[in-house]
Amino acid sequence: MKIKTVLIPAAGLGTRFLPYTMCVPKEMLPLGNKPAIHYIAEEVVNSGVENMCLIINKDKQLLADYFKPHQELEALLQSRGKISALSPIIELRSKLSISTCEQREPLGLGHAVLMAEKYFGADEFIGIMLPDDIIDGEEAGLKQLIEQARKLNASVIAVQEVPLSAISAYGSIIIKQVINEDLVEISGVIEKPAADKAPSNLAIIGRYVFCPKLFTALHNIKKSASGEYQLTDAMDFMIDHMGERVFAYTIKGKRYDTGTPTGWVDAVNGFALKK
Ligand code: G1P
Repeated sequence: MKIKTVLIPAAGLGTRFLPYTMCVPKEMLPLGNKPAIHYIAEEVVNSGVENMCLIINKDKQLLADYFKPHQELEALLQSRGKISALSPIIELRSKLSISTCEQREPLGLGHAVLMAEKYFGADEFIGIMLPDDIIDGEEAGLKQLIEQARKLNASVIAVQEVPLSAISAYGSIIIKQVINEDLVEISGVIEKPAADKAPSNLAIIGRYVFCPKLFTALHNIKKSASGEYQLTDAMDFMIDHMGERVFAYTIKGKRYDTGTPTGWVDAVNGFALKK
């Protein structure tokens, strides 16, 4: 089992960062001298995956532009002996093929993923990384999931423990059986439950490896009460109606949620301390 392509759903409106996000995608917020999306692309490469597909809307073309060669600037820096300033991005480009796919309507994460169905063969596993979540650890976040998915030949999603008081911001998993201290099989997921309704304090972190049946499940789910197609509903569908097993693995590494202003400040500080 080889993951050839990772999807990066990045078509969100960035409402928590308005008015900043009127012109600039939140994935372009800087962490040190690189935008958040750069760290996501590095994780793709460090996970051994060669293709990254950005799912964007028509106003977020800047995300794709960041990865394109800038010939004039490169020639100028070369002539001034300063081309090393661009080494991180030039190196990334040489290791990664980047495509884009448009989500025309803001109909949720499940809908965004479905927009990229055409990029996957019928037997191909699917990697997904939510760009708000930046994982800083010894081993790339997605790589940890790929290793588990390979062993199990099944879908594996990332989780981390959070205080119950915070679970309403996440998908909360329902544990079916404990496999070992880092791995459980799940019987379902509750998306953003109230603390007193949460089945566990194991929160879904934005890294997923799915079996090819994900797309069939996404075609079969209905809109949630919020009017969006949820990825978590597709997971439930695979388990309940398609006989699929889904596992949750506690990924190692410090996770920053750059999707909120305070989470982004934490990430800025965390990355500054590393330098
Ligand atoms: C999404 C998912 C949720 C997950 C979270 C992780 O929610 O729907 O299940 O726990 O990402 O960051 P969002 O934060 O996009 O609302």
